[in-house]
Amino acid sequence: MRTHSCGEINAKHTGTSVTIVGWANKWRDHGGVVFIDLRDRSGLVQVVFSPEVDADIHKAAHKIRNEFVIQVEGEVRNRPEGTVNSSIPTGEIEVVAKKLSVLNDCRPLPFMIDGETDASETLRYRYRYLDLRRPVIQQNFITRHKASKAFREYLDSHGFLEIETPALTKSTPEGARDYLVPSRTNPGHFFALPQSPQIFKQILMVSGLERYYQIVKCFRDEDLRADRQPEFTQVDIEMSFVKREEVMAVTEDMIKKVFIETIGVEITEPFRRLTYNDAVERFGSDKPDLRFGLELKNVSDIVKDSSFKVFLDTIENGGIIKGLNAKGLAGYSRKDLDDLTKDVQGFGAKGLAWMKVKGAVESPIAKFFPEETLKALVERFEAKEGDLLLFVADKEDIANDCLAKLRNEMGKRLDLIKDGVYRFAWITDFPLFEWNEDEKRYEAMHHPFTSPMEEDMETFFSIDPAGVIHESPLRAQAYDIVLNGYEIGGGSIRIHKKDMQDRMFQLLNISPEEADTKFGFLLEALQYGAPPHGGIALGLDRIVMIMAGAHSIRDVIAFPKTQKAVCPLSSAPSPVDEKQLKELNIKLDIVE
Ligand code: AMO
Ligand code: AMP
Repeated sequence: MRTHSCGEINAKHTGTSVTIVGWANKWRDHGGVVFIDLRDRSGLVQVVFSPEVDADIHKAAHKIRNEFVIQVEGEVRNRPEGTVNSSIPTGEIEVVAKKLSVLNDCRPLPFMIDGETDASETLRYRYRYLDLRRPVIQQNFITRHKASKAFREYLDSHGFLEIETPALTKSTPEGARDYLVPSRTNPGHFFALPQSPQIFKQILMVSGLERYYQIVKCFRDEDLRADRQPEFTQVDIEMSFVKREEVMAVTEDMIKKVFIETIGVEITEPFRRLTYNDAVERFGSDKPDLRFGLELKNVSDIVKDSSFKVFLDTIENGGIIKGLNAKGLAGYSRKDLDDLTKDVQGFGAKGLAWMKVKGAVESPIAKFFPEETLKALVERFEAKEGDLLLFVADKEDIANDCLAKLRNEMGKRLDLIKDGVYRFAWITDFPLFEWNEDEKRYEAMHHPFTSPMEEDMETFFSIDPAGVIHESPLRAQAYDIVLNGYEIGGGSIRIHKKDMQDRMFQLLNISPEEADTKFGFLLEALQYGAPPHGGIALGLDRIVMIMAGAHSIRDVIAFPKTQKAVCPLSSAPSPVDEKQLKELNIKLDIVE
C-alpha cells in the first residue's frame, strides 16, 4: 500500500512521487492550505493539501480528523524557505498531495496522542492501543526488542540452549504469593504459575543440558511498585560446572554487549563489587544508586558522649545513630527541615535530627553535645562551612532503610543524579538467612537452593538449628546486580547434594515431609548425579526501563497492570460463568 515510510522521506527524495500511509497526527489550516502530519511507526511527514494543486483533494482534506487512517499519493518537495523544521528528520521536505484515500475514520479521542500526555494511567491503559501509538512509547518497545535480541544472540553464541519450562506447574520458592490455576481434570487440585523457572532449570542441569537460558514470564502476587509487576520477564540462565566467578563474568560480559547493541553505550569499567555488609553500611541499602556519593556514617560511637536523650535511649535499646552530609544545604529554612522530617517519618523513622555547619554548629540539639563531640561529628562527615548534617536514630534496619531513601532524595535535590550515566555493581556475600518478622522465623534470603559460602560450610553443618543461626553469620554464594539503584538481577551457586539440601531445610525448620511435598522432585533429582551448578536471572523489564530512560516498568510492558493488579483494557480479572466453575468443580463462597 506504500512506497515509502513516512519517517524515511528526506531531501534526497525531492521531486519523486511517493505513496504513504498512516495516521493523521495533526491538522492545520494556514491561509487556505491544509497541512496534515502523517505518522507511521517510522516517524512523521508533513503533507500539504493545496486548492491550487487539486481543489477536490483540498476539500476532502477538510474532512480528515485526528487519527483518521489515510493513504496519500504525492510529490516530495523542499519546504519553502523559513518553514524548515530542523527538529524532525523529515523537516526539510513536505509531500504535496495529489491523491487521498481515507482508509478508516476514528472516533473522537479520549486523549491526545502527541508526545507526552497528562491523561491518567487508568485512562491510558483502558485505551492502551491509543497510548501505544505515542512515538515515545513506541521507542521503548523498539529498545525492548533490541535488548531481547541482543541477549538471545549473546547467549546463543556462548553455547546456551533456549529451553521452555512449564507455566502450569507447582509452587516455586521465590517467596511471593502464587497465582493459582484450578485443574478441571483433578478436582480440588491447583497449578501454580511459576514465580521463576528455578526448579526446572536446576533439573535441566541434572539432565546434562549444561547451559540453559530462557526469556520467560514469571508471576508473583505481591504488592506492586513502579519497578514491580505481577507478571514480568526474566532473562533466566543456568550453567553446570561453574563457580560464582564464571557466572558473574558471563553475565557482566553479556550486559556490556547488550548495552552497546541496544543503546550504543559502552561500559568500559569492570562492574564495581560491594559485599552486602558494605553496601548496607555505606548506603543503607543492598541496591544503592552509585551515581553519587552522600555516603552514610554511623556515629553511635561519637554521640554516646552527648546528653541528647533520643540518641542515648536509642543506643541503650540496641539501635544506632547514622547520618549523612547534605552538602551545601545549611541554607535550609525551618520549614524546609520540618518538611524533610515529615518525609523521613513517612519512610518509617521517628524523627530527623539536623545540624547546620555555619561557623559553629547550629542546631536545636547542639546544646546537648560537648564541643569535642560536635567537632568529631563534623570530622566524621568531612563537613565544610555551609553543610547540613542529617541524623536518624533507630533500630539498625529502620535507620538504614530511612537513610537510604533520604540519600536518594538528597541526591535528587542536589542534582547529583545524571541521566545517561550507568553505574553497575555486584553485591556479594549475602547472608544465607533472613529474619521474617511477620512469620517470626528465618527464611532463605535468596532461595532455599542457594549454597552457603565454602568457608562457612563447617559452621553450616555444625550450628544448632534450634534458633542460634542468627548468631552465626552464615553467608550465601549469592550475588545481585544493581544498576542506578535498581536490583536488575540475582542468582547463586546452588546446593547440588542431597545431604546439604536436607540440612538447609532443617535449618529453615522445614520438615522432611513438607520439603518432600513441595520440592520432592528436585530433591530426588539431586540424588541422580547432579552436577555442580549455578545461575542468575535478570529482570528484563527493569533493564529496558533504565535503558529507555523510563520511570516505571509499565512504560516498557505493552499491556501492564495497574497498582491494583488489574488490566483496564481487558477488564481482567473478571467473574466467570457458573458453567465454567461447575466444570472446575468449584463453588464460590467469597469471604470479604
Ligand atoms: P529474583 O527473585 O531475584 O531471582 O528475580 C530476578 C530478577 O527479576 C526481577 N524481578 C522483577 N521485575 C519486575 N517485577 C517483579 N515483580 C519482579 N520480581 C523480580 C528483578 C530480580 O533481580 N530464580 C531466581 C534467580 C536465580 O537464582 O537464578 C530469581 O527469580 O530484577
Ligand atoms: P524531641 O526531643 O522529640 O523534640 O526531638 C528533638 C529533635 O530530634 C527533633 O528535631 C526530632 O525530629 C529529632 N528526633 C526525634 N526522634 C529522632 C530519631 N529517632 N532520630 C533522629 N532524630 C530524632
